[in-house]
Amino acid sequence: MESPFEVICKDTASAARRGRLKTRHGVIETPIFMPVGTQGTVKGMTPAQLTEVEAQIILGNTYHLNLRPGPDLVAELGGLHKFMAWDGPILTDSGGFQVFSLSKLRKITEEGIAFQSHLDGAKIFLGPRECFDIQQKLGTDIAMVLDECPPWPCDEDDCRKAVERTIRWSGQFKAIAEDEGFLDAGHHAFGIVQGSVYDDQRIECAQALAAMNFPGYAIGGVSVGEPEEEMLRQVGVTAPHMPEEKSRYVMGVGTPPQLLEMIALGADMFDCVMPTRLARHANVFTLDGLINLKNERFKKDERPIVDGMDNYTCRNFSRAYLRHLLMAGELLGLTLLSIHNTHFFLDLMKQARMHLEAGDYSSWKTKWIERYRAGNN
Ligand code: GUN
Repeated sequence: MESPFEVICKDTASAARRGRLKTRHGVIETPIFMPVGTQGTVKGMTPAQLTEVEAQIILGNTYHLNLRPGPDLVAELGGLHKFMAWDGPILTDSGGFQVFSLSKLRKITEEGIAFQSHLDGAKIFLGPRECFDIQQKLGTDIAMVLDECPPWPCDEDDCRKAVERTIRWSGQFKAIAEDEGFLDAGHHAFGIVQGSVYDDQRIECAQALAAMNFPGYAIGGVSVGEPEEEMLRQVGVTAPHMPEEKSRYVMGVGTPPQLLEMIALGADMFDCVMPTRLARHANVFTLDGLINLKNERFKKDERPIVDGMDNYTCRNFSRAYLRHLLMAGELLGLTLLSIHNTHFFLDLMKQARMHLEAGDYSSWKTKWIERYRAGNN
């Protein structure tokens, strides 16, 4: 099968690339950040607001949508795109990762993961078949395979078991997706490379998945508590062993500097709850680092969050007004901050794409990070 991803140009000073990924709901220009819409909504933002900040693709989650409202209901109502009124591409995570962070009484076997819902204690089983069926019913554009993400730290033998299981589940998932005509219909399935901090295991996993010829690939098991340096090292070790002509998605990351560093290591796609979650805690991104708008020093600050930034929040509202909304507990404050933070991440990716095309990505990245880290805000 032809790769849905195309590398348009490469950086000469790093492994960064500028690419394009075709999906059933449109083309995604990479590098790209994907806002997270776990429960069929990017928290605090309407689809129109997502379009305005130029979101190209959003995430949904198999674990949450399976529990509530359930894949059959979503399918009956026309699929997730129609249900949530988002006509752009959707990627759904496979759910296993969330079982480990949210549910109690889970048991992992060769067949899959048995667990109890964190909502009502209902007993649920998620194997490759169940995981595929749910994502197919949701009508996702990019389905993620069921994987086992080892915790950090994890000893070498336990990690190997998780990697071997992930490889087996990936093969089963791919076979099901093929049998069901899912891939032929233009939906994608991405394999997920695990292996914790063990280079040989990451490389073996990447190679085993590459041989299965998935439409795209992800690096999982990062940002699970390890130091930043270790996280970047793992991405650097893994990426060169993933197929050059397929997109590379690093799951669940990261800060703006981390995204720029990972692009330089050859990553194309990212997702993280950080922009919307931090917004709900009054934290906003500026070119000079994070600020907390509840701080007294913004009480009479008439400037926008970022001077000249072209989003609804920065075009219209002062830091003083936003602070007032937050202090008064007004819902609009959370929405306006979420718009800004999400736009900040998407705009950073847009600039990265521009600098890749202009051929000065690496020098731009170094300067951008230097200013951000200096934190002179
Ligand atoms: N989200 C963040 N990390 C992971 C991972 O390792 N696996 C999956 N499925 N989702 C993730």
